[in-house]
Amino acid sequence: SEIPLLFSPLSLRGITLRNRVVIPPMCQYTAHDGHLEDWHLVHLGRFATGGAGLIITEATAVQKSGRITHGCAGLWCDSQIPGHARVAQFALRAGAIPAVQLGHAGRKSGMQRPWFGNGPLTEDDFARGDMPWPPVGPSADPVDDGWPVPQALTTDDIARLIEDYAAAAKRALAAGYKIVEIHGAHGYLVHSFLSPLSNKRNDAYGGSLENRMRLALEITEAVRGVWPDDLPLFFRTSAVDGDPQGWSLDDTVALARELAARGVDVLDCSSGGIAGPATSSASGKRQPGFQVPYAARVRRDLGMTTMAVGLITHAEQAEAILAAGEADLIAVGREALVDPAWALHAARALEHDLQFETYPEQYGWWLERRQ
Ligand code: FNR
Repeated sequence: SEIPLLFSPLSLRGITLRNRVVIPPMCQYTAHDGHLEDWHLVHLGRFATGGAGLIITEATAVQKSGRITHGCAGLWCDSQIPGHARVAQFALRAGAIPAVQLGHAGRKSGMQRPWFGNGPLTEDDFARGDMPWPPVGPSADPVDDGWPVPQALTTDDIARLIEDYAAAAKRALAAGYKIVEIHGAHGYLVHSFLSPLSNKRNDAYGGSLENRMRLALEITEAVRGVWPDDLPLFFRTSAVDGDPQGWSLDDTVALARELAARGVDVLDCSSGGIAGPATSSASGKRQPGFQVPYAARVRRDLGMTTMAVGLITHAEQAEAILAAGEADLIAVGREALVDPAWALHAARALEHDLQFETYPEQYGWWLERRQ
């Protein structure tokens, strides 16, 4: 019988994903001084044994001060490589491709872990040892009332940031990751330069669309410059701010065209986050597949490979998105927290793997023979 689209392999440059199921980056707020620990290996490892084709390690800071919280992951120094290497090696041995999202939290850096309040750090956090640091951004404009005022990056700061992105990408390669995703979404540093709601600069990095895109494109060039030609590069975007004065879907298409010209292979289409502390929906109440139209538009207009994400929870829903030509990859985030073996179960739901053949052989051999 025919292979469902969701379980057809996808080749990107020199690598092949076994299927179209992606685990998107999900912060665990459980790292120590940016180092991954056992939690991350088990958490991400379950998705690999659970059949996903691609697993993206959470937002990983390229500078210590670029962490969202004190519990966020990093690749700003070499001692952080082994923790990532364990994750990457385990994923590969289980047949999944390991990727890492490289980011800088910008004006949303140095906030509380979600379960400690999800806001700016308070006295209670200081007592816990979570001391604040000065956040940075395109301009001295806070995310919201009551949030620290960021320092506007100087052009020297920007040059250093770009170098640190490249250095972190080299460490990602040393760790064994096969794909880097640049975090350009959710109100963090790169997105805050793109959006006119947060970027009030009047130098080469602010004002016109071209200038607001400059940082994203320079980071992309620097990362592509150190990332091997046979390995893919992804970029996650907030395709819309959800504010008529903000970043628009037309802007996203313009950005995607420039990213593709600089060697970005996949646009990962999320949305929102410019004004709120948490990843927030741009369009109010979230509906199933609410961000799929963004991936569809970029794919249709540019012929670019896209990833859809956001409340995609069912195998048939994922298959329909692919069949409609709206995206090439399907990210399943929170539903994979419910069911880390979402991909294996989706294969059975689509009658692709009724004999447990795609299960890890440690399980599948027995299950196939089970009476
Ligand atoms: C996220 N999300 C997210 N996005 C991102 O670009 N980098 C990150 O590190 C994180 N961290 C994160 C942590 C947790 C616990 C959740 C639930 C989400 C957003 C995530 O990748 C995804 O885009 C959304 O969760 C929407 O997809 P689902 O969950 O509806 O499939």
